[in-house]
Amino acid sequence: MGIVFNSTAKTITLHTKNTSYQMKTGNLDYLLHLYYGPSIRDTDMSYQIMQYDRGFSGNPYESRDARTFSLDAQPQEFSTQQQGDFRTPSIEVVNSDGSYSFHGKAVNYKIIKGKYNLDTLPAAFAADKDTADTLEVVLLDRVSNVEITLLYGVFEEADIITRAVRVKNLGSRSIRLKRIMSVCLDFLNGADMDLVSFPGRYGQERQVERQHINHHIHTIGSVRGSSSHQQNPFVILCDRSATEDYGKCYGFSLMYSGNFLTEAELDQYDQLRLVMGIHPRQFVYELKPQEVFEGPEVVMAFTEHGFTGLSHLYHDFYRTNLCKSKFVTEVQRPVLINSWEAAFMDFDDVKLVNIAKAAKNMGVDLFVMDDGWFGKRDDDNSGLGDWFVNENKIKCGLHRLVEQINGLDMKFGIWFEPEMVSEDSDLYRAHPEWVMQIPGRHAVRSRNQLALDMSRQDVQDYLIEKVNAILDNANIYYVKWDINRSLADIWSNKIPAERQGEVYHRYILGLYRVMDNIIKTHPDILFEGCSGGGGRYDAAMLHYYPQYWVSDNNHPIDRLKLHYGTSFVYPTCTMGAHISDSGKFVPLETKAIVAMCGTFGYELDATQLNKKQQKICKKQSDLFRKYYHITFKGDYYRLTNPFEDGNFTAWMHVTKNKREALVSAVVTNLTCNGPQEYIKAKGLKPDTFYRINKEKTVYSGAALMNAGIPIPREVPEYSAFQFHLKAVNKQ
Ligand code: DGJ
Repeated sequence: MGIVFNSTAKTITLHTKNTSYQMKTGNLDYLLHLYYGPSIRDTDMSYQIMQYDRGFSGNPYESRDARTFSLDAQPQEFSTQQQGDFRTPSIEVVNSDGSYSFHGKAVNYKIIKGKYNLDTLPAAFAADKDTADTLEVVLLDRVSNVEITLLYGVFEEADIITRAVRVKNLGSRSIRLKRIMSVCLDFLNGADMDLVSFPGRYGQERQVERQHINHHIHTIGSVRGSSSHQQNPFVILCDRSATEDYGKCYGFSLMYSGNFLTEAELDQYDQLRLVMGIHPRQFVYELKPQEVFEGPEVVMAFTEHGFTGLSHLYHDFYRTNLCKSKFVTEVQRPVLINSWEAAFMDFDDVKLVNIAKAAKNMGVDLFVMDDGWFGKRDDDNSGLGDWFVNENKIKCGLHRLVEQINGLDMKFGIWFEPEMVSEDSDLYRAHPEWVMQIPGRHAVRSRNQLALDMSRQDVQDYLIEKVNAILDNANIYYVKWDINRSLADIWSNKIPAERQGEVYHRYILGLYRVMDNIIKTHPDILFEGCSGGGGRYDAAMLHYYPQYWVSDNNHPIDRLKLHYGTSFVYPTCTMGAHISDSGKFVPLETKAIVAMCGTFGYELDATQLNKKQQKICKKQSDLFRKYYHITFKGDYYRLTNPFEDGNFTAWMHVTKNKREALVSAVVTNLTCNGPQEYIKAKGLKPDTFYRINKEKTVYSGAALMNAGIPIPREVPEYSAFQFHLKAVNKQ
């Protein structure tokens, strides 16, 4: 059993294969956090906590003359409000009497076989092979009658611990929740830690930043209504000395697609507290008597093996315990071509079929019709919301168009942006009250579109009906679900004035309801998420959709950074990556090698490629299929850091049994008469011999990892290389 209660010490310890996490009901029944790190067996870790008088820190009244006990200095599982802890709180609640206090005491705990589920939000699940257990710890404030249930999911083999939180109002009058964090993790000594985050912008999502933690609150979050391009709901806390391969790293990945907040605070005693949850900005949630609120799940991982070790834990877990789509394990992802950069909105059925025909020569399996096929949609000023086929463009009708594509022995995919509406649309004319718009004010426009109020059930039902109708009307194999603006006018006509603080969160709940219905009704469809590129790339989206568009930036050299940053937590098999016209001076082969790091496809007008180029593409599509078992199922290694100076960027995938690997490298900078450079492989077996690209000579894993593979010289600019390593039986 991964969860052990010690009745003498009153400790509860969560054990995974290589880690332990411990808490204890301590003084006055406060729930203390004692440890998270490498495995410890049978040790009460409370010996670390030294009680001494800390000037100006409050002492709970019940501790009487004992001035040595202050919550300001105690490591806690759930930091509380107004009891002398002045650090970052996990909760801010306005009680029915108007007070803000929450004094949560541990009153109960339960250990349950299997992994808990959440009623309103996505959560990781236990796969057949997993040993997973749940711990529930109940904290109660006996004055306000607010009850908190802390949920812990322990995945033993995966080395993963999940956390979530439920708030219940046990009182007889309403309370208002203003802040609720899903995780609070206290470190008794955090002075030597760094925080790694993934900021970005449109076209440059998930770049990597590392900062020392100082004596203030480091804040990372989004208030854009979505997890956003600008920040990502994933952070790493690590030793200051941690590198790709060595050092302690803690990961925190929030399964939520709306506003989020991460705060890391180094306090006066060098203790570190990290909290993560829904962003409190404009969040006020009323809970009537007996009502329950759920906070989103945080997936936590710990390793001593640096960033690579951490990424491997997340990649393995997210490939098996996050998304139930059959495309995760059972069905191979197709090579696709998307019409967006080929035609934008200027197309008809004939043009699309011609692109598909040309793409057939390139080994493409799936043709995707992007934006512009519906309503009145010739530019981005109109049409959103009218999810019926524009027969001026698709003159033969959707059914016949799909038949023609299928006739080429290709599958058909389609684009939607369900959450949005154009003012120039039938939907808006019929239902202006369905948009988010503050009474008496004009709504903020972005890409000339408005956001639908996804918190309304009638809006949700409309979208479910319209999207499902299209998907049922033709043989559709793939859906791209896009959203192209941030939310600005947070208001719902259906919600009373005093409850508008719930709209941000209710939008996300409504969105999840719609997505859940559509994917469950269409389990055979492959879904890809998108948000003006990779603006909502988060674990919750990957719960519904097995892949996500990384960025609208298809430049292969920029993509090296985009893939690098994204790969810290999200498996490379989730990364939508295409070859496009972007990167005029970059050879087609290089673009293909970069796209092969992810789901691989094309984003160009195939009719404009000559026979020779189409042939190159065909070869690359075949290589993608050939190496699929390595790139989609193997372990991924970042071999260089594209954010640091260097003349090449390299990465590799290695099969789990280490018998095969694919090393990829792009020369990003040609130096005149420069030194010879080597790609040092990782993850191989030192004593195994590998053949490279069917050459005669074989090389030991030790040689390839320590001396490396020399980068060919005298090559054109932006050349790229793929080295396929195959183990041979030589002793
Ligand atoms: C933004 C996406 O990222 C693009 O790939 C494309 O689908 C456009 N939206 C269409 O409007």
